[in-house]
This record gives sequence, C-alpha cells and structure tokens, in this order.
Amino acid sequence: MSSKKVLKELNEAVKFLQKQYKHTPQVGIVLGSGLSSFTDEIEIEKEVAYEDIPHFPVSTVEGHKSKMIFGKLGGKRVVAMAGRFHFYEGYEVEEVVFPIRVMKLLGIETILLSNAAGSVNPSYKVGDLMIINDHISLFTPNPLVGKNMAELGPRFPDMSEPYKQHLIQKAKTIAINNNYDLKEGVYLAVTGPTFETRAEYKMILTLGADVVGMSTVQEAIVANHMGLDVFAMSVVTDIGIREDHNIITHEEVLEAAKHAEPRLAFIFKELIAAI
Ligand code: HPA
Repeated sequence: MSSKKVLKELNEAVKFLQKQYKHTPQVGIVLGSGLSSFTDEIEIEKEVAYEDIPHFPVSTVEGHKSKMIFGKLGGKRVVAMAGRFHFYEGYEVEEVVFPIRVMKLLGIETILLSNAAGSVNPSYKVGDLMIINDHISLFTPNPLVGKNMAELGPRFPDMSEPYKQHLIQKAKTIAINNNYDLKEGVYLAVTGPTFETRAEYKMILTLGADVVGMSTVQEAIVANHMGLDVFAMSVVTDIGIREDHNIITHEEVLEAAKHAEPRLAFIFKELIAAI
C-alpha cells in the first residue's frame, strides 16, 4: 500500500476515535495472548470494537477480545488494545502495526507492550515475568520497509535503546519494593504460527535470546520510529529447551498467561502511575 494511503487511513481512524473519546490518552497498552482481563483494572470511559474503527483489522485468535478501551489507570488517561494483530494471522505487516500508529496519533507518549513467550533461558520457569531489555527482529519482516513516512519518523531509526532504560529501572524498583521476582532479557521474534522445533529453541538460545515469541517486535519498531517511549514485558508460558516431553499447546500458553496476569497488571499499573 502506498504511504500516502496509509497516512490517509491512519487519519481517518484517528478522527473517528477522537469523535468517540474526547480526552488525549497519555499511555498506550497492548495486551497479549491470555492477558486481556487486565482491562478490568481500567476505569473504563469508552470502549470501541475494532470492527467499528475505519481500516482496523479484526483479531482472529482465541484469547483476544478485540476492542480499544479508553479510560483511567494509575492516575493517567490510557488507551488499551485488548487483542493485537499477529503476522501469522495473515495480516500485512503494516496492518499489524496500524493500531500502534493510531495510538501515537491519538497523543500517547509511552507504550507498554505485553506478550506470552517461550523461554530458552534455562533459569526461567513457567509463570516468570521478564522485562524485555532488547530484541532480535531478524526473522520477521521489518514494518518500516517501503517508502519512509517522514511524517511519522526518520528513514533510519536508531535502535540502541528500543526499550527505555528509565522505564526498565522504574519497573525494577516496583518489583523490588513489592518482593516480585522480575527477569530481564532479550526477546527474539519469529513469525509463528508453529512453535519452535527443539533445534530452533537451541539456536535461539545460542543467538543470545532468553525468550521467543510471535509478536511485539514489529510494534516496538514502529513505536521507536515515531519516538514513543517503549516498555515491554513477557510472561513465560512454556519452556522451549527440555529433555522430556516437549509438546506445547496454545491452551497451555493461555492458561499460564492467565495465571501470571495479576502480577503483570500490578507492574503495569504501578509503572503508569510512576511515569
Ligand atoms: N514460541 C513462540 N511463541 C510463543 C511461545 C513459544 O514457545 N510461547 C508463547 N508464544
């Protein structure tokens, strides 16, 4: 799609949402697989179904609620996406990142991303929370390929700090003050939808990652392109490298995410309050 057309569609989606909700959200939140009930924490002022928003794709995965939620959390105005768009669902990359761009144009300055991920770090357990401090995106299409939209950001964005240190430090302080064990590490993105083979999980560890997942990185790239402060956290939902039975199911991923969700919600809420 031409960049002019993307910009026009973004503007139409933004105008529509601004009619639905008069306030300017300061923080955007993306909720990953099995993490949507986090929205219960939000003092909801307005909900808009994706299918009603011009040019929005519609989420197809079980465990995703598919709406944008506007309201207050941690004393700030926020907009949360309950349900995200994955490349493996068949969307174009520019569709995957469309909502992130919409949230930026609505006025957010910070974005909090969450996901379910498989661990390759031998010290991680199912249910652990990991702050993403860096990523490896080389196995998934870069969403900025194509004519640069200078209105949104530069041609060659720096990626030396894709996840902001000042937000990472705040999250770590919150964890320490509340006796939470938070891991910190590297997320490697794959397209999915297959989970990895044993050999692939081993390779991912060798490449320097701690967890692997099918989302987040394309969103983080466009968020960086537009100058947003990005914070991201993974819930470890399965262990990729193990000797015994190694079958991973989507149901198991959703169950583990659901279980970890209250802790993730707590960190997100406190972090938003501290921004
Ligand atoms: N691999 C890729 N994506 C995932 C995994 C995994 O093991 N678990 C949850 N999302």
